[in-house]
Amino acid sequence: MSRRKSPRVELRRPESKDVHAFLAMVGASRVLHRPWVYAPDSEEKFQRLVDHGAGGRTESFVVCRKTDGAIVGVINLSEIIRGALQSAFVGYYGAAGFEKQGYMTEGLDLVIRYAFRTLRLHRLEANIQPENIRSIKLAKRCGFRKEGFSPKYLRIAGRWRDHERWAMTAGEMRS
Ligand SMILES: CC(C)(COP(=O)(O)OP(=O)(O)OC[C@H]1O[C@@H](n2cnc3c(N)ncnc32)[C@H](O)[C@@H]1OP(=O)(O)O)[C@@H](O)C(=O)NCCC(=O)NCCS
Repeated sequence: MSRRKSPRVELRRPESKDVHAFLAMVGASRVLHRPWVYAPDSEEKFQRLVDHGAGGRTESFVVCRKTDGAIVGVINLSEIIRGALQSAFVGYYGAAGFEKQGYMTEGLDLVIRYAFRTLRLHRLEANIQPENIRSIKLAKRCGFRKEGFSPKYLRIAGRWRDHERWAMTAGEMRS
């Protein structure tokens, strides 16, 4: 598909110098993110993303628009497990003002490629609350399929929430 051949976005690691732009983006995106996501909203939490998001169990990326470098979203691979599983969870959120333009679809496509081709993972899973229609549409668009429903699966904002589990394996990645 054409969106994969020349994406309008690129991935890079969050860096300490991004702190002000990042926190401004999170502040401006509160309405977009709630009640689904609670992104790092202090310098300390952002620094944790920088420190722990570059290898090991977590890989974090900011999705940046190529034309001006604007941060249009964030995508994390977390709980990267090797051995017989070779799997990770995917989490993401967009930036207000840049939504509904296909940037996150392109960013997630790039992360999927990185996970399967560079990290050589076998399986990715995205956990999504059943009412989060925009996230379900994004996951579907990028090739995830619904595997199941897990009641009270993840604790978000102090409450255990039901989630659908969307997944894909390396062989299902679209070329
Ligand atoms: C989930 C989330 C990242 C999805 O963002 P999004 O803006 O819908 O995703 P994209 O940037 O890929 O945009 C896709 C939309 O842009 C539209 N679009 C417009 N112009 C486009 C273009 N030139 N190319 C591609 N798509 C385009 C697509 O049709 C699509 O709309 P649709 O879903 O109504 O069909 C966003 O809603 C969000 O941040 N939500 C809060 C956090 C969250 O829920 N995270 C997930 C927790 S599980």
